[in-house]
Amino acid sequence: MKTIGIVTSGGDAPGMNAAIRAVTRIAAYNGMSVIGFERGWEGLISGLVRPLNARSVSGIINMGGTILHTTRCPHIQTSEGRAKAAACLAKHKVDGLVVIGGDGSFRAARALGEKIDTLMVGVPATIDNDVYGTDETIGFDTAVDTAIGMVDKIRDTAISHERMFIVEVMGRKRGFLASMVGLTVGAEIILVPEVPFKEQRLFDIIRANESMGKRSAIIIAAEGIGDTRKLALDIEENTGLETRLSVLGYAQRGGSPTARSRYLASEFGSKAVELLSDDKGGLITTLREGRVMSFSLEESVRTEKPLDPAILKLAEILAT
Ligand code: F6P
Repeated sequence: MKTIGIVTSGGDAPGMNAAIRAVTRIAAYNGMSVIGFERGWEGLISGLVRPLNARSVSGIINMGGTILHTTRCPHIQTSEGRAKAAACLAKHKVDGLVVIGGDGSFRAARALGEKIDTLMVGVPATIDNDVYGTDETIGFDTAVDTAIGMVDKIRDTAISHERMFIVEVMGRKRGFLASMVGLTVGAEIILVPEVPFKEQRLFDIIRANESMGKRSAIIIAAEGIGDTRKLALDIEENTGLETRLSVLGYAQRGGSPTARSRYLASEFGSKAVELLSDDKGGLITTLREGRVMSFSLEESVRTEKPLDPAILKLAEILAT
């Protein structure tokens, strides 16, 4: 293994820079060269390369986003796009590519890796935490913390005005972020796409809470449940309680990574280089039961990560 490439792809996540730093420095420490590809898969298709070394990744461990920039790149899903990416990897003699991103990025890595000699290793980084095979992804902890900070502030105004608040968090079609945010802010109700709910049941819970003296509530809703604006109107109409919606949005994806996100990024980056040094590809780095390990890329992209219902149950009991 002489040359390692790095690409950050899909939605950015806090800690991606820390992962770029870790891969670059561990590779340099072991005498390898490192090339960064800019703007996600677009960089491989268009040949946007940036040589990286131990010095060029100085001062980035604390930065959100990704210094390599990122895109959603439908072009990599075509055989023509993949042929261009393969040619670019061959031109720069890249023996192993570290793909820092989520499941969409890993699907592209799997398809590209099928046809070429360059070894692929995925480093899970997404605020959605929806990558099968790892208990946690880089950036998830930071996004939870960011959301907590905002919801705690919303709680102040909810209590003062005795209002219901729906707070919509990201997560695409999954409820990992919503579950963890809901549990850790003490939400009265958590709504996730994995657990279908009936509006009537929601109104009943809100009324029951009110009769127990709860005059305000925080409802954490994953963006994947559907139209939260309509839900807020329906709650107000059916319970008679003033209801507001707050969509946390992209702030959840930014900011300086927490200690945990930096730790995961450092460990995953180091593990990725270790795997490539051992000529192992077709893998992702993972955290399972506290241990940094590797897992099949193929199986990861083929399998849907299950949501742990115990978190929702615990949050429900603690909210009584
Ligand atoms: O995957 C991360 C994520 O932030 C999701 O939570 C969200 O649904 C999506 O990206 C938004 O992506 P984009 O910024 O490309 O619209």
